[in-house]
Amino acid sequence: MAPVAGCAGPERSGAVLTSELPLPERFAVPLPRPALARPGPDGVYDLVQRVARPEIVPGARTEVWGYDGTFPGPTFDVRRGRPVRVRITNELPVPTATHLHGGVTPAEFDGYPTHLIVPEGLSHARLSHGGHETGWRLTDRTFTYEYPLDQPAATLWYHDHRMDFTGPQVYRGLAGLFLIRDEIEDALPLPRGDRELPLVICDRAFAADGSFRYPSVDPTLLHERGVTGAYHQGVLGDVILVNGAPWPTAEVARARYRLRILNASNARRYDLRLDPPPPTGPAFTQIGSDVGLLAAPRPLDRVLLASGERADVIVDFSTYPAGTPVVLRNARGQGSTVDVMRFVVGRTATDDSDVPSTLAPVEVLTRADAVTRRRFDFRLSGPGEHGRQWTVNGVPFDPETVVASPILGTTELWTITSDFHHPVHVHLGHFQVLSRNGRAPGPADAGWKDTVDVRPYEVVEILVRFTGFRGRYVMHCHNLEHEDMAMMANIDVS
Ligand code: C2O
Ligand code: CU
Ligand code: CU
Repeated sequence: MAPVAGCAGPERSGAVLTSELPLPERFAVPLPRPALARPGPDGVYDLVQRVARPEIVPGARTEVWGYDGTFPGPTFDVRRGRPVRVRITNELPVPTATHLHGGVTPAEFDGYPTHLIVPEGLSHARLSHGGHETGWRLTDRTFTYEYPLDQPAATLWYHDHRMDFTGPQVYRGLAGLFLIRDEIEDALPLPRGDRELPLVICDRAFAADGSFRYPSVDPTLLHERGVTGAYHQGVLGDVILVNGAPWPTAEVARARYRLRILNASNARRYDLRLDPPPPTGPAFTQIGSDVGLLAAPRPLDRVLLASGERADVIVDFSTYPAGTPVVLRNARGQGSTVDVMRFVVGRTATDDSDVPSTLAPVEVLTRADAVTRRRFDFRLSGPGEHGRQWTVNGVPFDPETVVASPILGTTELWTITSDFHHPVHVHLGHFQVLSRNGRAPGPADAGWKDTVDVRPYEVVEILVRFTGFRGRYVMHCHNLEHEDMAMMANIDVS
């Protein structure tokens, strides 16, 4: 398993794992739409985490660990202010924790890394790590998460968050979309129904037997965490999947579409372009970011997404002549990972959608709002017990140590520094990017965010506000290999 260096130079965010299986043909399979999650008669959404063997690469079977055995998991399509209960039953061979990424959720339901659902037949004793028993909450087989959803319409997602093993467990399939809608969004004439396409983008590598290839030190995922060798920087695959299909094709009408794009990759960063670009107008019009709609639409010729980030964008395919193939490309990819998917523009169709010049009320935070300032340095430190470790302020994650205790409802100014690509994600607290290297925020920084891409040796200032609930939450790097190898810290909201 010799690692191949990723893209040369500063854009590298991991090491490429190559597939042993011949790569599937590009644009040969249709873009799937993930199933909708539906509540049962008691109003609870029941999801069973189980093993399945779908045909991802034509002609091969891939073992997936999925919510309801699907990858991505079922999409939630729910409404602001209507609380949702999700009962998760774990039938996998490993413990799990589920986190609603971007959710304003009570701490007990936030999927804290040591709050685990333990499957039948797995003894609790095997799960203790180096004597850290306090703070672990082990539940047998089933746990019901409660999400109040008192937050604006947004593109959220849910995924596994198990201590030390999030990377391999998300890689095997434990992730899905969670869309929140509200009246403000309803009142906008945005494309809807078939013309709203969720795009869950991730990269994978395949072993000769069709299974996902991942360089775990311990492939059982029961004992030792971590990945081998150079992959500690992050695992990049050579196959791009959209909604679980390799380089798919979507037939679209000559009309506006709303694309809700999620970068669900462990470590890969994207710079998405349309090829060819539209003959007139911008390629993309951004209407929303991680945790809500923007105040006003923004024209973009590219969509930049680090792991965990989302972009809600409109593409107007009516600007292309009928029959045009339009490829969504990743300008940061190399070889097989340059292509993401293809749209084929079909016939002219009636389209009464529009992108109004005002979208949603967005409070703008300013430096003067900050009551506290903090600094967080995301860096590789070492050597330690397990060699070099990814750390926050020089310290590897310890569930018992707290790095910050913000006061509920207040705004803080955080300065984040970095030695590598670190997409920094904060639970509970939503934030606005104030500056990058002393300059204005970048094109991917608009609106309310929960994840910000901090590049090597950048200094990024954010204004973060914790609202809703008190308790212990985490913030961490959303490069999942970094997260598993200790780049995480506790925030106690008081
Ligand atoms: Cu998307 Cu703490 O994670
Ligand atoms: Cu999160
Ligand atoms: Cu990182």
